[in-house]
Amino acid sequence: MPEGSFGRSLSPFGRLVPHYRREILEALKGSVWGHPMEYHDRIDSTNERAKAWARKGAPQGALVIADHQTEGKGRLGRRWIAAPATSVLASVVLRPTLTPALASLLTLSWAVAMRDALSQEAGHELSIKWPNDLVFEERKVSGILTESILSASGIEAAVVGFGVNVNQETFESQKATSLSLIAGRTLKRGPLVARILKEAHRRIGELESGGPEETLNLCRRHSVTIGREVTLFLPEHEVVGKAVDIDADGRLVLETASGLFRASAGEVSTREGMA
Ligand code: BTN
Repeated sequence: MPEGSFGRSLSPFGRLVPHYRREILEALKGSVWGHPMEYHDRIDSTNERAKAWARKGAPQGALVIADHQTEGKGRLGRRWIAAPATSVLASVVLRPTLTPALASLLTLSWAVAMRDALSQEAGHELSIKWPNDLVFEERKVSGILTESILSASGIEAAVVGFGVNVNQETFESQKATSLSLIAGRTLKRGPLVARILKEAHRRIGELESGGPEETLNLCRRHSVTIGREVTLFLPEHEVVGKAVDIDADGRLVLETASGLFRASAGEVSTREGMA
C-alpha cells in the first residue's frame, strides 16, 4: 500500500488511513471484545468518550482508542500524560452482571489480565501494585481507571480505561518505564491491545461466573505490595503499616500499630521509596 502523509497510508478507496487504526483493526479480527471500535487520532479522554457512548447504549466490549489524549485522566484526580504515538490509550465499555459489591473487583480482575498480557509481550514478569498499577522493577508501566455509570437498579455500565507506556525511550520520572525498554525492542500496539482484550475477556468472565477467588489469589500472588512496609496516602490522613493481604472485597489490609486497617482506595508508597 503506498505511503501517504506521516503516519497514514492510502486505502484501496483512495482515503488516507492512519497506520495505527489499521493495525488495531487487523489485530482485533477474531477478538470477542473491541467491537464496535472507535478510533481517534486525538481526543480529550477515551474514558470520557466511552462513558458518553455507554450512556447512549454502547454494548459490552465496545472500545474507544486514541493515538493521543489532551486531557487524559488518572486516578485520584490526576492527569495521564503521554506523548502522541507512544502508548496504548484505550477504554472498554462493560455491562457487568456483578452485584455492586463485586463490581469493585473489576479493576483488580483487569489488572490481572493486563499483567499477563504485558508480561507475555515484554518477555518479563510484571507485578501488580495495588490497586491498579502494573510495574516492572518498581517502575510504573501501566495504570487503570475504572468509572461506573450507576442506575437505580445497580451498575448500568462500567468503563475500564487503561494507559500503557509502550515505546517511550525516556521518562522525566525515575518511577516510570515502558514495555520497549523492558523488552529491548519496539513493540506494535495493535497486537498488544488485542492481547489485553483477550485476557480481560477471560478474566472478567471468570469473575462473573466463578466469583472473586481466582482474581484475588492472582492479585495476591503477583502483588508487589503485600509483605512490605508501606505508607497509605488517603485524602485526610496517612496510614503506616505492613501490607499483609488483599481481602475478599479487594481491600488492602494493613497491619498497623493500632490493629488491622482495610483500605478500599488510596495511594500506596513503600517505605523503601517505591512510587
Ligand atoms: C492511573 O494510573 O492513575 C490510571 C491511569 C489511566 C489512564 C487511562 S489512558 C486511557 C483512559 N482514558 C483516560 O482519560 N484515562 C485512562
